[in-house]
Amino acid sequence: MKACRAVQISDNVYWVGAIDWDIRNFHGYSTNRGTTYNAYLILAEKVTLVDTVKAPFRDELLARIRSVIDPEKIDYIISNHAEMDHSGSLPSMIDIVKPEKVFASVKGVEALEQHFGLKDITAVEDEGEIDLGNMKITCLETRLLHWPDSMVSYLAEDKILFSQDGFGMHLASNERFDDELEDYVLYYEASKYYANILLLYSHIAAKVINRINDSGLEITTIAPDHGPVWRSKIPWIMDLYKKWSARELKKKAIIVYDSMWDSTRMMARAIEDGLTEGGVHVKVLSATATSRAEVVTELIDAAALIVGSPTLNNHIFPTVADILTYIKGLKPKGVVGAAFGSYGWSGESVRVLNAWLEDMKIELVSEGVRVQYVPKAEDLERCRQLGLEVAKRIENLPDPLVVTRVCT
Ligand code: FEO
Repeated sequence: MKACRAVQISDNVYWVGAIDWDIRNFHGYSTNRGTTYNAYLILAEKVTLVDTVKAPFRDELLARIRSVIDPEKIDYIISNHAEMDHSGSLPSMIDIVKPEKVFASVKGVEALEQHFGLKDITAVEDEGEIDLGNMKITCLETRLLHWPDSMVSYLAEDKILFSQDGFGMHLASNERFDDELEDYVLYYEASKYYANILLLYSHIAAKVINRINDSGLEITTIAPDHGPVWRSKIPWIMDLYKKWSARELKKKAIIVYDSMWDSTRMMARAIEDGLTEGGVHVKVLSATATSRAEVVTELIDAAALIVGSPTLNNHIFPTVADILTYIKGLKPKGVVGAAFGSYGWSGESVRVLNAWLEDMKIELVSEGVRVQYVPKAEDLERCRQLGLEVAKRIENLPDPLVVTRVCT
């Protein structure tokens, strides 16, 4: 094991997590910049570890703890979230550390037993407190952010919120703090994380943000379970979470498509022409060239989703079905849509796509555009008109901002 060292993030707290430079697929989410599994060591009278790491990274966690303290001196472990990227090494850490107590939310106690057969986990109620002797942790349930067991914990003495998945991002780096990283990277990876992990729970995220704001907790550090620790840009990330959770959509459309012999691609580009002519910002995303996670990231503030597929074996392209399946699960609200595609003889793709969009509660702007074989000039004009029609529907929304501006 290489000499991994802890990083002090406040008077009494050290980051003791692990860096996963190699991961490129996190349960279907393309993680092009890797990730970190963050864990935190609180040097209170009751020495406390907040969360652990994914199982293969346990020794890195132990090495970082050892750079500060003998792991056997840990008295308490708090499990804020039972998903295995944070709890995978918990059973073996319990064997090694033999902590006096392990704490989790009420649902966390159930989840840890169901995952690992762990007994004797102490349940913390919502707003429950854990006495660390000379310090105190307050726990707030954040059910479904990200799992039913999720909770956040707050250390008043250092004004730190341990936020588990919330405010996290998949970003491997040796820089531990927000102000040590480029703003455009922070914005892109935080928005990608929100879109892929939390979008479905936006209504809950909005309540949690309000609850944190209303709690009166003074927060100078947010320590999530992935990515950098927030210490300089907390108002900025909180404001972004408010916007994303409120689904503040912009005058922006995404076209997702695949093509067999270039016809559907030609249609996509003609629709793009209509949208840009109508003053809408457009992203044209080939389902072959773009991961589902990247598509959803663009959907975080897009007001229109236009989907194209040729007809293949009386159906749609599998690449397009993959992305639609993923989007459907994340339930983006407030979006309008349309479908298009070329065909040879049977031509079911637009009907199938329309059914998908309607099933996703996406309001159809038109019945869509079908073209047999190769589009002629008049077919491309119909596509351009479709783009204009969609643009008309969203023309009054605000322009998308390039939000790399940060609070100082
Ligand atoms: Fe990072 Fe929901 O686990």
